[in-house]
Amino acid sequence: MSQEQWKSKIGFIFAAAGSAIGLGAIWKFPYIAGTGGGGAFFLIFLFFTVLLGAPLLLGEFVVGRRAQSDAVTAYKKFAPNSSWSLIGKLGIVTCFILLSFYSVVGGWIIIYLFEAIRGGLNGLSQDQYGALFGELIAKPWSTLLAQLVFMLMAIVVVAKGVQKGIEKASKIMIPALFILFLILVIRSVTLDQSIEGIEFLLVPDFTKLTSESILLALGQAFFTLSLGVSVMVTYASYLPKTQNLPFSAISIIVINILVALLAGLAIFPGVFSFGMEPDAGPVLIFAVLPAVFSQMQFGVIFFINFLLLFLFAALTSAFSMLEIFVAATTKHDKTKRKKRAWTLGLLIFVLGIPSCLSYGVLSDVLVFDKTIFDLFDFTVSNVLMPLGALLISIFVPLKISKSALYEEISLGSKSGKMFFNVWYYLLKYVTPIAIVIVFLDVLGFLDKMISLFK
Ligand code: PFF
Repeated sequence: MSQEQWKSKIGFIFAAAGSAIGLGAIWKFPYIAGTGGGGAFFLIFLFFTVLLGAPLLLGEFVVGRRAQSDAVTAYKKFAPNSSWSLIGKLGIVTCFILLSFYSVVGGWIIIYLFEAIRGGLNGLSQDQYGALFGELIAKPWSTLLAQLVFMLMAIVVVAKGVQKGIEKASKIMIPALFILFLILVIRSVTLDQSIEGIEFLLVPDFTKLTSESILLALGQAFFTLSLGVSVMVTYASYLPKTQNLPFSAISIIVINILVALLAGLAIFPGVFSFGMEPDAGPVLIFAVLPAVFSQMQFGVIFFINFLLLFLFAALTSAFSMLEIFVAATTKHDKTKRKKRAWTLGLLIFVLGIPSCLSYGVLSDVLVFDKTIFDLFDFTVSNVLMPLGALLISIFVPLKISKSALYEEISLGSKSGKMFFNVWYYLLKYVTPIAIVIVFLDVLGFLDKMISLFK
């Protein structure tokens, strides 16, 4: 059976960066930064991305490239007859749930694109935009249809394969995303009072930082890099031995930081220039941003530009979530890919239906006090992903010999050798400890412990 491979080195970087760049950087980052202290939050996010995210990313690359197999088999290869392959299975289940509600937001982007193009977003007041958002996402049929369209786009690409589907699409979408971002940022930073927004993002005011925002920044760093679910293991399994892994990891880290920066620069200057508040929360993009754009000249065109880049970002992430599934069930057998992509993709759509409806007809259905969408989001982002990241950071130094790790990192790279020890010890000690701290906090244990000592 011939093994699928990326066609080019840069193709892999675009695909992996595409997985990383998504709702996390464009939707979540601005609103968490907006509520969590702006510049100070951004700095902490940078710190975690470099110190904790980068080692884990490289760790996943090493597992994938060395094993040359899907997420479940990869762990089995290093630790046969053990339960470690559960890490891969956990990643698959996590992606299954994640994509089921990620595609709901993907659908909202499509609905907004449609509305913007047909002129439905013109000239409302800020409150009206808020109300419109609530109305649009409460409609059951159109939201379900949009979610299905989003899933179909992802399925069609993944069904085409690694090279002809994911790599080709990412090679178009990621550069396009940057161009669209640049247009937007130029418009945004040349607004009259843009400086306030730029300062908000770039000048740290540490008094605004809370322990909660520090922990959010850590979660955000892992989420935006798609870590802990073995998606990066799967993508790296299609790599030849000539690829320089440390360089690839660093490129993706840089691209990811750049996108968060661009997202902040595209959004905050407008928010401040038009007298709006940056701490609107999750509705920032859908309810506040249209109001911002509607006050600009040719604002609709800029907003469509924004929605398009947002759609590209969400889609390239969706490819990776579906791919981990397809890879694990086809075991790299190309002949099964098409059928599996369609079956699994449609199954994910069905699982996403309750999340989609939880903003409308199912809004009263609460589980543990959360709507179905929020429950899925919470479980994935705050429990399953950190758990996966923790297990991977324990697995790599424990189950792969230091010499094998060293060899894998040095292949195709001279500079990788220099960083080896720093990387190894960060992954072995710093990453797991940091994750445990966040984990305990999310589950409410830290508060309980602190109150015990008071
Ligand atoms: N990195 C994506 C984002 O920031 O939107 C989210 C993500 C994609 C997480 C793929 C996990 C994953 F496997």
